[in-house]
Amino acid sequence: RKKVTIPTLNAMHKRREPITMITAHDFPSAHVADQAGMDMVLVGDSLAMVALGMEDTSEVVMEEMILHCRSVARGAKSSFLVGDMPMGSYEVSTEQALTSAIRIMKEGRMHAVKLEGGRDMAPAIAKITTAGIPVLAHVGLTPQRQNALGGFRVQGKSTAGAMQVLEDALAVQEAGAFGVVLEAVPAPVAKLVTERLRIPTIGIGAGNGCSGQVLVQIDMIGNYPPGRFLPKFVKKYGDVWGETKRAIETYKSEVKDRSFPAPEHTYPMLDEEFAEFQK
Ligand code: KIV
Ligand code: NA
Repeated sequence: RKKVTIPTLNAMHKRREPITMITAHDFPSAHVADQAGMDMVLVGDSLAMVALGMEDTSEVVMEEMILHCRSVARGAKSSFLVGDMPMGSYEVSTEQALTSAIRIMKEGRMHAVKLEGGRDMAPAIAKITTAGIPVLAHVGLTPQRQNALGGFRVQGKSTAGAMQVLEDALAVQEAGAFGVVLEAVPAPVAKLVTERLRIPTIGIGAGNGCSGQVLVQIDMIGNYPPGRFLPKFVKKYGDVWGETKRAIETYKSEVKDRSFPAPEHTYPMLDEEFAEFQK
């Protein structure tokens, strides 16, 4: 497979071919996403919860994001790689935003960065893109701002709210973002925004009228214990947690009854004299 680049993504957008994106957080999750043919792989700060067991994304720091970005970069050969800018790494000034973006690119080995925010973040997006670093914007429900939003709530449900989402999306486009993630936005609003923009929209909980879709890999493969809360927009395509538990339980019982390891997992002795010592 040929490497996916910004021109590849623009060409897909032009011919209205949906762009596929999934998160990865380490070497194996990146490898499988790449081999499955994902156009884009995102090292999302959602790894704070799904891979590091943290309460929310505000806990993850730049050094941790870089470690995970590097691991993903080693596992993916063709997908276009986007690294999330963690909370606190880009809000202070446009200089701070650019410095952090450079770290994600150079140390994290990514092809682009993602940051949350609309009109407020336009100057940061402009600063980063003038340095030749592609930016994927993220508007609608922005989890890093959950405290200001009053929790994980659908954005743009009212006409005024919808106009806010549209205004934010237009602002990040004007600032130079190559695309924008629309999270937890009513489908008709996401469709309208997609029609009004020149750049592709990547939806999560935003309906099928977007230019592409993104999901959190750990969620969509079902690698979490039963009973965990999941947002309405997650579709569970597999049961990796259940498969893994079954495998580990089988291993456990085979160790307990000594059926593992079997002869085929065991090294024989070549020296026949050794038999003498066993007597
Ligand atoms: O962190 C993440 O995984 C994300 C996607 C859900 C868009 O930002
Ligand atoms: Na994120």
